[in-house]
Amino acid sequence: MPLLSNFNIEVELMPVSAQGEVLLKSVYVSVDPYLRGKMNGTHPPIFELNEPAASKIIAEVVESNNESFKKGDYVSAYLKWQEYQVSDGTALQKIDSNTAPLSNYLGVLGITGLSAYIALMDIGKPKKGETMVVSGAAGAVGTIAGQIGKIMGCKVVGIVGTDEKIALLKTKFGYDEAINYKTAPDIKAAIAELCPEGVDIYFDNVGGTISDSVIANMNNYGRIPVCGTISNYNDIEEQTGPRLLPIVVYKFLTIQGFLIGDHAARFPGVTAQLAAWLKEGKITHSETILEGFDKLPAAFIGLFEGTNEGKMIVKIN
Ligand SMILES: NC(=O)c1ccc[n+]([C@@H]2O[C@H](COP(=O)([O-])OP(=O)(O)OC[C@H]3O[C@@H](n4cnc5c(N)ncnc54)[C@H](OP(=O)(O)O)[C@@H]3O)[C@@H](O)[C@H]2O)c1
Repeated sequence: MPLLSNFNIEVELMPVSAQGEVLLKSVYVSVDPYLRGKMNGTHPPIFELNEPAASKIIAEVVESNNESFKKGDYVSAYLKWQEYQVSDGTALQKIDSNTAPLSNYLGVLGITGLSAYIALMDIGKPKKGETMVVSGAAGAVGTIAGQIGKIMGCKVVGIVGTDEKIALLKTKFGYDEAINYKTAPDIKAAIAELCPEGVDIYFDNVGGTISDSVIANMNNYGRIPVCGTISNYNDIEEQTGPRLLPIVVYKFLTIQGFLIGDHAARFPGVTAQLAAWLKEGKITHSETILEGFDKLPAAFIGLFEGTNEGKMIVKIN
């Protein structure tokens, strides 16, 4: 488990933009589970010791010596955890602050919303009347995946870590049922009880024993998009579990891994679909926003403690 003591805040001189560069001020910083892999080397490029961490950031152009950007533009990019930094403009994506609140571009209209849509539609292939289970259901990806499942006509059941999140899923995000994996005495039995017809789609955000329990309840020809395995990200030793391949064979299951970086060409079209559903009120979303640059480590660690509902974001004042 990452600790606050793994992080250090340093004060440096303000950077100055040279010809062809822009000076950026960070406004919203995304903290994400995958950053854990940049600390332990499983998700290259890794974070270097005593260098700034980095993630997707929405920044304001506060000074421009680059003709493609003007002062006041908002941009999104994978940037360093710094209040200010310079960029030569490469890989900066302009963001329209009139279309949606800026923070939305880190969540429902950003990587997590896109992941929910593409992993579910491409691999989960939801059909009307089917039953879908989502783990990590109250998080950034899970809240959107479940709602898309409902739009597609599925019964949707979530797995979360608190009773408050169960209530949130049912009242705000349209989930039909949900279970608390921390208090359910037997997750496999709880899924069987809530899904007596069996599970057709398992949207997996967490891996580990929770996934073993859901996979034991799959129907023939079930589909399992594996978006993430957060329950393993802090593992020091390799975990073992039940042998699942016999179930894969005898139930004709499809299990497919997914990485959003593989689908960049589809981002504009899928973002437009998600924005349209938001506007029509067909989907909604939550953001947990902590304020202050010094909250970055706590926000990141909070992902592994479940302190977020929806997308975890830090606003830089
Ligand atoms: N493949 C891709 O391209 C891609 C893109 C985006 C995200 N992801 C993955 O998708 C998953 C969700 O990401 P996100 O950004 O939406 O994060 P998130 O779900 O908003 O936040 C993480 C949540 O995971 C739950 N959690 C933490 N530790 C857990 C454990 N040991 N067992 C079960 N649940 C645990 C917590 O909720 P509870 O209170 O319910 O425990 C926490 O709120 C992650 O695995 C992430 O790596 C993958």
